[in-house]
Amino acid sequence: MNSPCRLVVLISGYGSNLQAIIDACANKTINGQVVAVISNRPDTLGLQRAQQAGITTKTLDHTKFPDRETFDRALKELIDSFSPDALLLAGFMRILTTEFTRHYAGRMLNIHPSRLPKYRGLHTHQRALEADDKKHGASVHFVTDELDGGPVILQSKLIIKPEHTAESLAADVLKQEHVIYPLAVKWFCDSKLVLNNNQVFLSGKKLNKPLQLDDIETDF
Ligand code: GAR
Repeated sequence: MNSPCRLVVLISGYGSNLQAIIDACANKTINGQVVAVISNRPDTLGLQRAQQAGITTKTLDHTKFPDRETFDRALKELIDSFSPDALLLAGFMRILTTEFTRHYAGRMLNIHPSRLPKYRGLHTHQRALEADDKKHGASVHFVTDELDGGPVILQSKLIIKPEHTAESLAADVLKQEHVIYPLAVKWFCDSKLVLNNNQVFLSGKKLNKPLQLDDIETDF
């Protein structure tokens, strides 16, 4: 087995996806270790979760920087001081500069609360309801310089019920996020998941479309 993957996780708030990653490392589902959690907002619940797990935390408050470029450079320097193998965005609510995304190309993953390419950006649950969609879900993707536009690895699906509100839909999707994100991170840490020429490969096989959780046998 390879040595544990060094993971740095970026958050902005609640940190439930972070918790799912921490738990999956603790129970050895992921051959990895969260070596640092960095938040762009102070005093978040996600930072508390990391501290409770004995993980180093840092806050880099974006409001203290004059512009996006300066913030992203400082963030990059801080991240690289932990020598990560992978950088995980987990509810990190910042648009990233191209310089930043290129630096972590092929080793930065994100969880997004929609079935991409549908609903990039914000308010995904409300937008799915307003569009009268029948299904919704979440996606794990490699991050590129296109906002929520990088190659999708794995998606979940749920059927929207008449009684769903944006809040209840968000809660149901979040539960699925906690399954698909650790699974994709596990694959990455097992060196099974690779981005090459903007194409996703899993166990050496090119994915022509995103994997669907429903089609995967998993012990999660
Ligand atoms: C999650 O739903 C995540 O998919 C979303 O923010 C929430 C964070 O929850 N991310 C984005 O919208 C990124 N564009 P968490 O802090 O409990 O993991």
